[in-house]
Amino acid sequence: MTDKSSGSSESHPKTIATGSTSHSFYNSRFYNYRVVHQFSIMTVVWGIVGMLVGVLIAAQLAWPALNFNIPWLSFGRLRPLHTNAVIFAFGGSALMATSLFVVQRTCQVRLISDKLAAFVFWGWQAVIVSAAITLPMGLTTSKEYAELEWPIDILIAVVWIAYAVLFFGTIMRRKGQHIYVANWFFGAFILAVALLHIINSLALPVTLTKSYSVYSGTVDAMVQWWYGHNAVGFFLTAGFLGMMYYFVPKQADRPVYSYRLSVVHFWALIAIYVWAGPHHLHYTSLPDWTQNLGMVMSLILLAPSWGGMINGFMTLSGAWDKLRTDPILKFLVVSLSFYGMSTFEGPMMSIKSVNALSHYTDWTIGHVHSGALGWVAMISIGAIYHLIPLMYNRKAGDMYSVKLIDLHFWLSTIGTVLYIVSMWVNGLMQGLMWRAVNSDGTLTYSFIESVEASYAGYVVRFIGGAIFFSGMLVMAWNIWKTRQLALSGNHSGHDAHEIQSSAHAGKAGSDEVLA
Ligand code: HEM
Repeated sequence: MTDKSSGSSESHPKTIATGSTSHSFYNSRFYNYRVVHQFSIMTVVWGIVGMLVGVLIAAQLAWPALNFNIPWLSFGRLRPLHTNAVIFAFGGSALMATSLFVVQRTCQVRLISDKLAAFVFWGWQAVIVSAAITLPMGLTTSKEYAELEWPIDILIAVVWIAYAVLFFGTIMRRKGQHIYVANWFFGAFILAVALLHIINSLALPVTLTKSYSVYSGTVDAMVQWWYGHNAVGFFLTAGFLGMMYYFVPKQADRPVYSYRLSVVHFWALIAIYVWAGPHHLHYTSLPDWTQNLGMVMSLILLAPSWGGMINGFMTLSGAWDKLRTDPILKFLVVSLSFYGMSTFEGPMMSIKSVNALSHYTDWTIGHVHSGALGWVAMISIGAIYHLIPLMYNRKAGDMYSVKLIDLHFWLSTIGTVLYIVSMWVNGLMQGLMWRAVNSDGTLTYSFIESVEASYAGYVVRFIGGAIFFSGMLVMAWNIWKTRQLALSGNHSGHDAHEIQSSAHAGKAGSDEVLA
């Protein structure tokens, strides 16, 4: 990476042209948009599926009868289905769509192989469908976020290596010498996830559907949370920072604030993240020094995390007025706020005395979803709104209805706030109830009293989740209508006059019109 502050305004190859529309309108002769389009659509589809399961399990925690006494509808089986669907299917598809788009655009070359791209797409969908079948059947390794059994793990490794070859092979063919910063983040995410997945999933198979981890006891726990926390660090952070570094400057039509800062916080982030895993194992049989190291590294992590947030925010210098008219930019900016909030909260929760209160309570769930809904989902949604119209030969962000994007923005924001506030209240209350003691040393509250007291919070979380989910349906409708417009050859949207007057139209995407 050289120091360069020219931002993401990559020059555009003259050869780019709209391909034949006979079978696919996203068929650019220069770039492979087919795979970008496929992953973008599946981001929305898996987002709807994963969040619907999230809403169902949220309802089950308030009204347990909703498992209908059917084993594969039970909370214990649907919870990992939810986490796998939202992280790997929704988040993974968003990352693959955007990384394969960004790498082509910034390197100004087509992906090295269309067949490999198709393999990555169909292979990843096969992984997701296998997960959706086996997890409700109760087939699980019981390792959080690594629940899938060994045959699926092998498929994941093969598809991931194909993805790495596709991504890095394209980088190696790039036109210029420089590698744009977004690709560094995507690259780190791809390499780290390969390493994490392969090491943590090492297991001895006993049958087709059952295996035992090669690790045991405390070592197993440490390897698992080295994996688990770095899944957050590299899948849910580095990858999405890659997304941020392309789509925020693009949508704001501004260069990245500081290329130098992006270089510094990139190296700091990847060097420190790998040490933070032990904060998941405070007060366990893990050696004390390891727990303390995890705590200290987590605190230091605040600095590089905020480096990314500050760089994103400052990129908007001089463009803040666009927030009045551009709901896509609102998604991107609010996602950065939630990123900043949750990367402040995380280090605080790593402090052992704070963790003694927060661990095992709903506070953790609130923290997770401030990152998951506020950061991961919102930045993905913003990026997909920018991207999808390009797939249909429209300007970047030129969706059927800007009003519907705005509606989606408010549904997402309100849903996220209801979700995380209810879980913070529940979490603090639970932590305090569990540690309250009477003067004679007995516990003031029984566990079941804390469960009863959590009921209101669970109902509010369910409402917040349902609101967020409804936003995803609005998005699906808007994309469908945008596609219909493109098919009919109509290039103005439902509220075209607003798009025209909105700050981003014709600017953010001005170099992206495929014509
Ligand atoms: C409509 C939106 C969503 C709803 C209603 C929802 C609901 C839930 C519920 C009820 C749980 C179980 C909490 C518990 O065990 O007490 C959960 C866990 C989890 N969800 Fe979501 N969720 C949503 C979206 C997401 C998204 C978009 C992501 C990630 C991108 C995500 C990631 C997770 C993770 C990682 C956990 C496990 C947390 C832990 O073990 O500490 N969720 N979710």
